[in-house]
Amino acid sequence: PPLESIINLYDFEKLASKILSNQAWAYYSSGANDEISYRENHSAYTRIFFKPKVLVDVSKVDLSTEMLGSKIEVPFYATATALCKLGNPEGGEMDIARGCGQGLIKVPQMISTLASCSVEEIVGAAPSKDQIQWYQVYINSDRNVTRHMIKKVEDLGVKALFVTVDAPFMGAREKDLKIKFSNSSQGPKVMTSKAKDDINKSIVNKKEEAAGDVTEGASRTLSKFIDPSLTWKDIIELKKWTKLPIVIKGVQRVEDVVKAAEIGVDGVVLSNHGGRQLDFSRPPVELLAESVPILKEKKLDDKLELYVDGGIRRGTDVLKALCLGAKGVGLGRPFLYANSCYGKDGVQKAIDILKDEIEMSMRLLGVTSIKELNEDLLEISNLKSR
Ligand code: FNR
Repeated sequence: PPLESIINLYDFEKLASKILSNQAWAYYSSGANDEISYRENHSAYTRIFFKPKVLVDVSKVDLSTEMLGSKIEVPFYATATALCKLGNPEGGEMDIARGCGQGLIKVPQMISTLASCSVEEIVGAAPSKDQIQWYQVYINSDRNVTRHMIKKVEDLGVKALFVTVDAPFMGAREKDLKIKFSNSSQGPKVMTSKAKDDINKSIVNKKEEAAGDVTEGASRTLSKFIDPSLTWKDIIELKKWTKLPIVIKGVQRVEDVVKAAEIGVDGVVLSNHGGRQLDFSRPPVELLAESVPILKEKKLDDKLELYVDGGIRRGTDVLKALCLGAKGVGLGRPFLYANSCYGKDGVQKAIDILKDEIEMSMRLLGVTSIKELNEDLLEISNLKSR
Protein backbone atom coordinates (compact mmCIF):
# COMPACT_ATOMS: atom_id res chain seq x y z
CA PRO A 1 0.00 0.00 0.00
CA PRO A 2 1.14 3.58 -0.59
CA LEU A 3 2.86 5.28 2.34
CA GLU A 4 0.04 7.88 2.45
CA SER A 5 -2.35 5.16 3.60
CA ILE A 6 -0.45 4.82 6.88
CA ILE A 7 -2.12 6.99 9.49
CA ASN A 8 -0.77 5.73 12.80
CA LEU A 9 2.15 3.70 14.10
CA TYR A 10 0.06 0.54 14.44
CA ASP A 11 -0.44 0.53 10.68
CA PHE A 12 3.29 -0.10 10.21
CA GLU A 13 3.11 -3.00 12.64
CA LYS A 14 0.13 -4.59 10.90
CA LEU A 15 1.81 -4.32 7.55
CA ALA A 16 5.13 -5.61 8.89
CA SER A 17 3.41 -8.69 10.32
CA LYS A 18 2.27 -9.50 6.78
CA ILE A 19 5.37 -8.74 4.75
CA LEU A 20 8.35 -9.56 6.97
CA SER A 21 10.03 -12.96 6.80
CA ASN A 22 9.05 -15.27 9.66
CA GLN A 23 12.50 -14.81 11.09
CA ALA A 24 12.47 -11.03 11.08
CA TRP A 25 8.92 -10.87 12.47
CA ALA A 26 9.82 -13.33 15.25
CA TYR A 27 12.97 -11.46 16.21
CA TYR A 28 11.42 -7.99 16.11
CA SER A 29 8.02 -8.62 17.62
CA SER A 30 8.69 -11.07 20.40
CA GLY A 31 8.79 -10.39 24.10
CA ALA A 32 10.17 -12.77 26.70
CA ASN A 33 8.23 -15.89 27.74
CA ASP A 34 4.51 -15.10 28.19
CA GLU A 35 5.05 -11.53 26.93
CA ILE A 36 3.29 -10.04 29.97
CA SER A 37 5.80 -7.18 30.32
CA TYR A 38 5.66 -6.59 26.59
CA ARG A 39 1.88 -6.09 26.72
CA GLU A 40 1.86 -4.19 30.03
CA ASN A 41 4.41 -1.69 28.72
CA HIS A 42 1.73 -0.19 26.51
CA SER A 43 -1.31 -1.11 28.63
CA ALA A 44 0.04 0.94 31.53
CA TYR A 45 -0.29 4.08 29.42
CA THR A 46 -3.97 3.29 28.81
CA ARG A 47 -4.61 3.61 32.57
CA ILE A 48 -3.45 7.23 32.66
CA PHE A 49 -5.94 9.96 31.80
CA PHE A 50 -5.63 13.69 31.18
CA LYS A 51 -7.07 16.74 32.92
CA PRO A 52 -6.96 19.22 30.03
CA LYS A 53 -6.96 22.98 30.55
CA VAL A 54 -9.44 24.98 28.49
CA LEU A 55 -9.41 28.56 27.27
CA VAL A 56 -5.67 28.63 26.74
CA ASP A 57 -4.28 30.25 23.60
CA VAL A 58 -2.88 27.24 21.75
CA SER A 59 -2.51 28.78 18.32
CA LYS A 60 1.25 28.19 18.57
CA VAL A 61 2.87 25.17 20.21
CA ASP A 62 6.55 24.46 20.61
CA LEU A 63 7.69 20.83 20.83
CA SER A 64 11.39 21.52 21.13
CA THR A 65 13.45 20.44 24.08
CA GLU A 66 16.96 19.51 25.15
CA MET A 67 18.42 16.07 25.73
CA LEU A 68 21.90 15.52 27.16
CA GLY A 69 22.97 19.01 26.21
CA SER A 70 21.70 18.89 22.61
CA LYS A 71 18.76 20.87 21.29
CA ILE A 72 16.14 18.53 19.83
CA GLU A 73 13.01 19.45 17.92
CA VAL A 74 10.76 16.80 19.44
CA PRO A 75 10.88 14.92 22.74
CA PHE A 76 11.46 11.43 21.31
CA TYR A 77 14.22 9.35 19.70
CA ALA A 78 14.73 6.13 17.76
CA THR A 79 16.19 3.77 20.32
CA ALA A 80 18.80 1.07 19.69
CA THR A 81 17.57 -2.04 17.93
CA ALA A 82 19.89 -4.77 16.67
CA LEU A 83 19.86 -6.26 13.17
CA CYS A 84 17.86 -3.67 11.20
CA LYS A 85 18.93 -5.40 7.98
CA LEU A 86 16.74 -8.38 8.81
CA GLY A 87 13.73 -6.28 7.80
CA ASN A 88 15.46 -3.90 5.39
CA PRO A 89 18.37 -5.83 3.83
CA GLU A 90 19.70 -2.91 1.78
CA GLY A 91 19.26 0.05 4.07
CA GLY A 92 19.31 -1.42 7.60
CA GLU A 93 20.37 1.11 10.23
CA MET A 94 21.56 3.48 7.48
CA ASP A 95 17.95 4.01 6.42
CA ILE A 96 17.00 4.78 10.01
CA ALA A 97 19.78 7.40 10.04
CA ARG A 98 18.43 8.83 6.77
CA GLY A 99 14.82 8.80 7.90
CA CYS A 100 15.75 10.48 11.19
CA GLY A 101 17.65 13.25 9.43
CA GLN A 102 16.07 13.92 6.05
CA GLY A 103 12.86 15.66 7.11
CA LEU A 104 12.12 19.04 8.65
CA ILE A 105 12.05 17.43 12.08
CA LYS A 106 15.26 15.68 13.05
CA VAL A 107 15.22 12.93 15.61
CA PRO A 108 18.16 11.43 17.51
CA GLN A 109 19.13 7.88 16.60
CA MET A 110 20.67 5.52 19.13
CA ILE A 111 22.99 3.11 17.30
CA SER A 112 23.10 -0.45 18.66
CA THR A 113 26.35 -2.27 19.43
CA LEU A 114 24.73 -5.12 17.52
CA ALA A 115 23.80 -3.09 14.45
CA SER A 116 23.89 -4.86 11.10
CA CYS A 117 25.82 -1.97 9.53
CA SER A 118 29.13 -0.57 10.78
CA VAL A 119 29.04 2.63 12.84
CA GLU A 120 30.99 4.36 10.06
CA GLU A 121 28.24 3.47 7.60
CA ILE A 122 25.46 4.60 9.94
CA VAL A 123 27.12 7.89 10.84
CA GLY A 124 28.03 8.39 7.17
CA ALA A 125 24.40 7.91 6.14
CA ALA A 126 23.12 10.78 8.30
CA PRO A 127 21.92 13.43 5.84
CA SER A 128 22.84 16.40 7.99
CA LYS A 129 25.99 17.17 9.92
CA ASP A 130 24.13 18.45 12.97
CA GLN A 131 22.05 15.31 13.29
CA ILE A 132 22.25 13.77 16.75
CA GLN A 133 23.43 10.16 16.99
CA TRP A 134 24.11 8.28 20.20
CA TYR A 135 25.84 4.95 20.73
CA GLN A 136 24.43 2.08 22.76
CA VAL A 137 27.16 0.09 24.50
CA TYR A 138 27.13 -3.57 25.42
CA ILE A 139 30.23 -3.92 27.55
CA ASN A 140 32.53 -6.71 26.46
CA SER A 141 34.50 -9.03 28.74
CA ASP A 142 37.53 -7.73 26.93
CA ARG A 143 37.42 -4.10 28.04
CA ASN A 144 39.88 -3.10 25.30
CA VAL A 145 37.24 -3.94 22.72
CA THR A 146 34.76 -1.61 24.42
CA ARG A 147 37.35 1.16 24.89
CA HIS A 148 38.28 0.89 21.24
CA MET A 149 34.63 1.22 20.17
CA ILE A 150 34.05 4.18 22.49
CA LYS A 151 37.09 5.96 21.08
CA LYS A 152 35.89 5.20 17.56
CA VAL A 153 32.38 6.57 18.08
CA GLU A 154 33.73 9.63 19.88
CA ASP A 155 35.89 10.36 16.83
CA LEU A 156 32.86 9.85 14.59
CA GLY A 157 31.00 12.59 16.47
CA VAL A 158 28.52 10.54 18.47
CA LYS A 159 27.04 12.69 21.27
CA ALA A 160 26.32 10.28 24.14
CA LEU A 161 26.77 6.70 25.32
CA PHE A 162 23.89 4.54 26.52
CA VAL A 163 25.15 1.54 28.46
CA THR A 164 22.61 -1.25 28.41
CA VAL A 165 22.46 -3.11 31.72
CA ASP A 166 19.27 -5.16 31.52
CA ALA A 167 20.72 -7.88 29.31
CA PRO A 168 23.59 -9.73 31.06
CA PHE A 169 22.03 -12.67 29.25
CA MET A 170 19.42 -12.44 26.53
CA GLY A 171 15.85 -13.16 27.59
CA ALA A 172 13.94 -16.16 26.27
CA ARG A 173 11.97 -14.81 23.35
CA GLU A 174 10.19 -17.94 22.42
CA LYS A 175 8.97 -17.05 18.93
CA ASP A 176 12.55 -16.24 18.13
CA LEU A 177 13.86 -19.43 19.74
CA LYS A 178 11.52 -21.51 17.61
CA ILE A 179 12.91 -20.03 14.43
CA LYS A 180 16.59 -20.71 15.19
CA PHE A 181 17.51 -18.46 12.39
CA SER A 182 21.16 -18.16 13.30
CA ASN A 183 21.56 -21.41 11.44
CA SER A 184 19.69 -20.21 8.37
CA SER A 185 20.70 -18.13 5.40
CA GLN A 186 19.28 -14.94 6.87
CA GLY A 187 21.00 -14.99 10.24
CA PRO A 188 24.44 -13.49 10.67
CA LYS A 189 24.56 -12.72 6.94
CA VAL A 190 22.56 -9.55 7.56
CA MET A 191 25.71 -8.06 8.99
CA THR A 192 28.20 -6.38 6.66
CA SER A 193 31.72 -7.68 6.94
CA LYS A 194 32.71 -4.43 8.66
CA ALA A 195 30.02 -4.77 11.27
CA LYS A 196 30.93 -8.42 11.72
CA ASP A 197 34.48 -7.33 12.23
CA ASP A 198 33.47 -5.05 15.08
CA ILE A 199 31.36 -7.80 16.51
CA ASN A 200 33.99 -10.47 16.07
CA LYS A 201 36.41 -8.32 17.99
CA SER A 202 33.84 -8.22 20.71
CA ILE A 203 33.27 -11.94 20.93
CA VAL A 204 34.26 -13.24 24.29
CA ASN A 205 36.20 -16.11 22.81
CA LYS A 206 36.28 -18.13 19.64
CA LYS A 207 34.73 -21.20 21.18
CA GLU A 208 31.64 -19.24 22.05
CA GLU A 209 31.53 -17.81 18.59
CA ALA A 210 31.38 -21.32 17.17
CA ALA A 211 28.60 -22.25 19.57
CA GLY A 212 26.76 -19.03 18.82
CA ASP A 213 26.77 -19.58 15.11
CA VAL A 214 24.79 -22.76 15.09
CA THR A 215 22.39 -22.60 17.97
CA GLU A 216 19.47 -20.94 19.48
CA GLY A 217 17.88 -18.07 17.59
CA ALA A 218 19.16 -14.56 17.02
CA SER A 219 18.86 -13.35 20.58
CA ARG A 220 20.87 -16.15 22.12
CA THR A 221 23.53 -15.90 19.47
CA LEU A 222 23.94 -12.18 20.02
CA SER A 223 24.23 -12.54 23.77
CA LYS A 224 27.68 -14.07 23.35
CA PHE A 225 29.00 -10.53 22.96
CA ILE A 226 27.99 -9.28 26.36
CA ASP A 227 29.85 -9.48 29.68
CA PRO A 228 27.47 -10.90 32.28
CA SER A 229 29.76 -9.98 35.19
CA LEU A 230 29.21 -6.22 34.83
CA THR A 231 28.61 -4.26 38.06
CA TRP A 232 28.24 -0.64 39.23
CA LYS A 233 32.05 -0.50 39.61
CA ASP A 234 32.42 -0.96 35.87
CA ILE A 235 30.15 2.02 35.23
CA ILE A 236 32.31 4.17 37.50
CA GLU A 237 35.38 2.94 35.60
CA LEU A 238 33.74 3.65 32.25
CA LYS A 239 33.15 7.27 33.27
CA LYS A 240 36.93 7.69 33.27
CA TRP A 241 37.28 6.56 29.66
CA THR A 242 35.19 9.23 28.03
CA LYS A 243 33.99 12.80 28.23
CA LEU A 244 30.69 11.90 26.56
CA PRO A 245 27.53 11.91 28.67
CA ILE A 246 26.78 8.42 30.03
CA VAL A 247 23.25 7.09 30.40
CA ILE A 248 22.41 3.73 31.97
CA LYS A 249 19.77 1.97 29.88
CA GLY A 250 17.53 -0.65 31.41
CA VAL A 251 17.00 0.50 35.00
CA GLN A 252 13.99 -1.25 36.54
CA ARG A 253 13.68 -0.21 40.20
CA VAL A 254 13.67 3.06 42.11
CA GLU A 255 16.65 2.08 44.27
CA ASP A 256 18.77 1.72 41.13
CA VAL A 257 17.61 5.08 39.80
CA VAL A 258 18.81 6.60 43.07
CA LYS A 259 22.12 4.71 42.85
CA ALA A 260 22.65 5.97 39.31
CA ALA A 261 22.06 9.54 40.47
CA GLU A 262 24.49 9.04 43.34
CA ILE A 263 27.35 7.72 41.19
CA GLY A 264 26.90 10.71 38.89
CA VAL A 265 25.86 9.37 35.51
CA ASP A 266 24.08 11.83 33.25
CA GLY A 267 20.87 9.90 32.88
CA VAL A 268 18.99 6.63 33.03
CA VAL A 269 16.57 4.98 30.65
CA LEU A 270 13.77 3.33 32.59
CA SER A 271 13.27 0.30 30.40
CA ASN A 272 12.65 -3.42 30.41
CA HIS A 273 14.07 -3.77 26.91
CA GLY A 274 10.63 -3.69 25.34
CA GLY A 275 9.55 -6.68 27.43
CA ARG A 276 12.27 -8.85 25.94
CA GLN A 277 14.25 -9.60 29.10
CA LEU A 278 12.72 -10.48 32.49
CA ASP A 279 9.04 -11.19 32.01
CA PHE A 280 6.98 -9.50 34.79
CA SER A 281 9.45 -6.65 35.06
CA ARG A 282 7.09 -3.72 35.64
CA PRO A 283 6.10 -1.26 32.94
CA PRO A 284 8.67 1.55 32.91
CA VAL A 285 6.06 4.31 33.09
CA GLU A 286 5.03 3.00 36.50
CA LEU A 287 8.61 3.20 37.69
CA LEU A 288 8.84 6.74 36.33
CA ALA A 289 5.82 7.80 38.39
CA GLU A 290 7.46 6.35 41.51
CA SER A 291 10.99 7.60 40.90
CA VAL A 292 10.41 11.31 40.48
CA PRO A 293 8.97 11.99 43.98
CA ILE A 294 11.77 9.96 45.58
CA LEU A 295 14.50 11.74 43.61
CA LYS A 296 12.93 15.06 44.67
CA GLU A 297 12.77 14.00 48.29
CA LYS A 298 16.46 13.07 48.18
CA LYS A 299 17.30 16.27 46.28
CA LEU A 300 18.71 14.21 43.44
CA ASP A 301 16.17 15.23 40.81
CA ASP A 302 18.46 17.73 39.09
CA LYS A 303 21.38 15.26 39.09
CA LEU A 304 20.28 13.19 36.10
CA GLU A 305 17.88 13.07 33.17
CA LEU A 306 15.17 10.44 33.06
CA TYR A 307 14.30 8.68 29.83
CA VAL A 308 11.75 5.97 29.30
CA ASP A 309 11.01 3.44 26.58
CA GLY A 310 8.70 0.49 25.97
CA GLY A 311 5.20 0.44 24.52
CA ILE A 312 5.11 4.05 23.38
CA ARG A 313 2.91 4.14 20.29
CA ARG A 314 0.92 7.39 20.48
CA GLY A 315 1.59 11.07 20.94
CA THR A 316 -0.51 10.87 24.09
CA ASP A 317 1.86 8.18 25.49
CA VAL A 318 4.76 10.57 24.93
CA LEU A 319 2.95 13.41 26.71
CA LYS A 320 2.04 11.19 29.66
CA ALA A 321 5.69 10.23 30.15
CA LEU A 322 6.79 13.85 29.91
CA CYS A 323 4.13 14.97 32.41
CA LEU A 324 5.54 12.39 34.81
CA GLY A 325 9.03 13.85 34.47
CA ALA A 326 10.73 12.13 31.52
CA LYS A 327 13.10 14.28 29.51
CA GLY A 328 12.45 12.23 26.39
CA VAL A 329 11.14 8.86 25.26
CA GLY A 330 12.47 6.13 22.99
CA LEU A 331 10.61 4.02 20.45
CA GLY A 332 12.00 0.73 19.19
CA ARG A 333 9.67 -1.51 17.22
CA PRO A 334 7.66 1.27 15.51
CA PHE A 335 10.81 2.50 13.75
CA LEU A 336 11.91 -1.05 12.93
CA TYR A 337 8.56 -1.77 11.30
CA ALA A 338 8.44 1.56 9.45
CA ASN A 339 11.99 0.94 8.20
CA SER A 340 11.16 -2.62 7.14
CA CYS A 341 8.02 -1.62 5.23
CA TYR A 342 9.12 1.61 3.54
CA GLY A 343 12.81 2.24 4.31
CA LYS A 344 13.91 5.79 5.13
CA ASP A 345 10.65 7.38 3.97
CA GLY A 346 8.75 5.10 6.34
CA VAL A 347 10.97 6.24 9.20
CA GLN A 348 10.38 9.87 8.30
CA LYS A 349 6.63 9.20 8.11
CA ALA A 350 6.66 7.58 11.56
CA ILE A 351 8.36 10.70 12.92
CA ASP A 352 5.80 12.98 11.26
CA ILE A 353 2.88 10.94 12.56
CA LEU A 354 4.17 11.03 16.13
CA LYS A 355 5.05 14.71 15.94
CA ASP A 356 1.57 15.58 14.63
CA GLU A 357 -0.07 13.52 17.35
CA ILE A 358 2.01 15.21 20.05
CA GLU A 359 1.28 18.66 18.66
CA MET A 360 -2.46 18.07 18.42
CA SER A 361 -2.63 16.53 21.90
CA MET A 362 -0.70 19.43 23.42
CA ARG A 363 -3.22 21.84 21.91
CA LEU A 364 -6.16 19.86 23.26
CA LEU A 365 -4.44 19.54 26.63
CA GLY A 366 -4.05 23.32 26.83
CA VAL A 367 -0.25 23.52 26.85
CA THR A 368 2.02 25.31 24.42
CA SER A 369 5.50 24.12 25.41
CA ILE A 370 7.19 21.02 26.77
CA LYS A 371 8.21 22.72 30.00
CA GLU A 372 4.55 23.30 30.91
CA LEU A 373 3.91 19.55 31.10
CA ASN A 374 3.56 18.30 34.65
CA GLU A 375 1.76 15.75 36.76
CA ASP A 376 -1.15 18.10 37.53
CA LEU A 377 -2.34 17.43 34.01
CA LEU A 378 -2.74 13.71 34.71
CA GLU A 379 -5.02 11.38 36.60
CA ILE A 380 -2.84 8.43 37.57
CA SER A 381 -4.76 6.85 40.44
CA ASN A 382 -5.50 3.77 38.33
CA LEU A 383 -2.02 3.38 36.94
CA LYS A 384 -1.25 0.38 39.13
CA SER A 385 -4.62 -1.36 38.98
CA ARG A 386 -4.14 -4.15 36.52
C1 FNR B 1 15.83 -4.08 21.08
N1 FNR B 1 16.39 -3.38 22.14
C2 FNR B 1 17.76 -3.23 22.22
N2 FNR B 1 18.31 -2.50 23.24
C3 FNR B 1 19.64 -2.32 23.32
O1 FNR B 1 20.10 -1.66 24.23
N3 FNR B 1 20.46 -2.87 22.37
C4 FNR B 1 20.00 -3.61 21.34
O2 FNR B 1 20.76 -4.08 20.50
C5 FNR B 1 18.60 -3.82 21.26
N4 FNR B 1 18.07 -4.58 20.26
C6 FNR B 1 16.70 -4.69 20.14
C7 FNR B 1 16.18 -5.39 19.05
C8 FNR B 1 14.80 -5.44 18.88
C9 FNR B 1 14.25 -6.20 17.71
C10 FNR B 1 13.92 -4.81 19.80
C11 FNR B 1 12.42 -4.85 19.62
C12 FNR B 1 14.45 -4.15 20.87
C13 FNR B 1 15.51 -2.72 23.14
C14 FNR B 1 15.14 -1.32 22.67
O3 FNR B 1 16.24 -0.45 22.73
C15 FNR B 1 14.02 -0.70 23.53
O4 FNR B 1 14.33 -0.81 24.89
C16 FNR B 1 12.64 -1.33 23.24
O5 FNR B 1 12.53 -1.68 21.89
C17 FNR B 1 11.53 -0.36 23.60
O6 FNR B 1 10.30 -0.96 23.43
P1 FNR B 1 9.36 -0.77 22.14
O7 FNR B 1 9.37 0.68 21.76
O8 FNR B 1 9.92 -1.67 21.09
O9 FNR B 1 8.04 -1.23 22.66
